[in-house]
Amino acid sequence: MEGKLIVLEGIEACGKGSAVPSILKWFADRGLRTLHTREPGGTAYGEALRELLISKDHNAPPISDALGFYGARCDHTQNMIIPALQQGIYVICERYADSSLAYQVSSCPEVRAVHELCKPHLLEPDLVLFLDISADTSLVRMEKRRIEKKIPLDKFESKGYDYLNQVRYNYTELALDESGHIKQNWRVVDAEQSPEEVVADIESYLAAFMRAA
Ligand code: TMP
Repeated sequence: MEGKLIVLEGIEACGKGSAVPSILKWFADRGLRTLHTREPGGTAYGEALRELLISKDHNAPPISDALGFYGARCDHTQNMIIPALQQGIYVICERYADSSLAYQVSSCPEVRAVHELCKPHLLEPDLVLFLDISADTSLVRMEKRRIEKKIPLDKFESKGYDYLNQVRYNYTELALDESGHIKQNWRVVDAEQSPEEVVADIESYLAAFMRAA
């Protein structure tokens, strides 16, 4: 496959959405084609599941969420991400499997088995940009966004400080390989910095990534 899968990860309000336009521009400036997509979502099937998965209107057990996120991901991978990569497109994806491993594992340890089951239908990202912020910053940013946009918080955004802190910890564990070093395809971005500084860090990671590719 000629394209590359670049995934943005992090807890709520870590700045994924704000970083995306600069990333798309960075690739466009170099004459490279991109596809911006997200999880859960991307395909019509995934977007329909997204409605269910992040809605507060249902009380499905954690295993249903785990299966739902992976069901959406397999479709997204097979029907959208792989075809784009085959055309040499750089796929910029907000969230991928590490989101499930970070968000679902505490309430549903079986998510690891679901991950293994689905692995043949998924991809290993070429690059994971983990936008790291504290749970405190996340809560402050979510509240600001809720007031500005007048949109109520969704199921995962409403879970509070301890959950956010646990998810952040899970990400920091996922970032490490067996020897305790940052995984070769992961970059940890200090997303507490100003938006300009975050973009500058991301761009320098992209430049290094493309040089090595
Ligand atoms: P978003 O707000 O970044 O678009 O993500 C939607 C929500 O879904 C977010 O609260 C995190 C949650 N989520 C999971 O819990 N597991 C997953 O596998 C994914 C992709 C998202």
